[in-house]
Amino acid sequence: MAINDNEHIALNSSPDSDDLRDLCSELKTRGFAKKFLHFQQAGSTNQIASDLARKGYPEGTLVVAEEQTAGRGRWQRPWHSPVGKALLFSLILRPEILPSQIPQITLVVGAAVAQAVHRQTGIRAGIKWPNDLFYQGKKFCGILVEGNVKNSLVLGIGVNVNQESDDFPPQLRSTATSLRMIKGEKVSRLPLLRRILETLEEDYEEYCRSGFASARRSWLQYEAILGRKVRIAIGGQEYCGHAVGLAEDGALLLRLPQGEEIRCSAGEVNLCREDE
Ligand code: BTN
Repeated sequence: MAINDNEHIALNSSPDSDDLRDLCSELKTRGFAKKFLHFQQAGSTNQIASDLARKGYPEGTLVVAEEQTAGRGRWQRPWHSPVGKALLFSLILRPEILPSQIPQITLVVGAAVAQAVHRQTGIRAGIKWPNDLFYQGKKFCGILVEGNVKNSLVLGIGVNVNQESDDFPPQLRSTATSLRMIKGEKVSRLPLLRRILETLEEDYEEYCRSGFASARRSWLQYEAILGRKVRIAIGGQEYCGHAVGLAEDGALLLRLPQGEEIRCSAGEVNLCREDE
């Protein structure tokens, strides 16, 4: 597949007038989405971006799909979205960082997306460490950072924008929501995507220039976990305790019932009821 700067590939027409193929017309980014591929249907945008990264596509290459047939989430879970109602996209990043710093990128991204959603829609998300975005206990955005291609990362973002309750599988209805359900009105995907990319580029560049401190401050403004009782699975072992802080390097600090404090650099967090 050969593409030129700003070229996008649309395999079919988009189902609504909020046409993501118009992305570049008003996008104010320096490098993000200068190469832009748009698919009506894809397996997984992360997989496509990962293949492109392997072929040497540059940082900022953006892959967007209206629908995914093999969308993937964290912990090998599937990620489903009905056609044209979500934002489903992946970016190639090539940060010069150590593998141990990759978890910081996930926090940079979570904070940037929370800020962009807030500015664009007025919805103030809460971030569950490391980077799931929630509103009143229901998730509307998931972020998957994959680092399996040499010298690059693929950053995949799924935002539930215009789904209604029936669009979610029954087993997800009590835990998932969309921006439309939160606001009670349709939300335009195109300006939201622009805003996310612009915010993300700015925060990512700041991270690459000056390190994690600024993203950490921003993450702390949106976090919704500190002070809460949580369960976290790390490498097959489960810990239960209170989330008490975010370390300078992005690790979650957990205080165990006996008072011992442990650092969690990766793992899946679940909020507990206080009486658990
Ligand atoms: C999570 O488990 O919360 C992360 C979900 C990430 C889903 C997005 S949708 C666009 C990109 N392509 C994928 O296959 N996954 C990510």
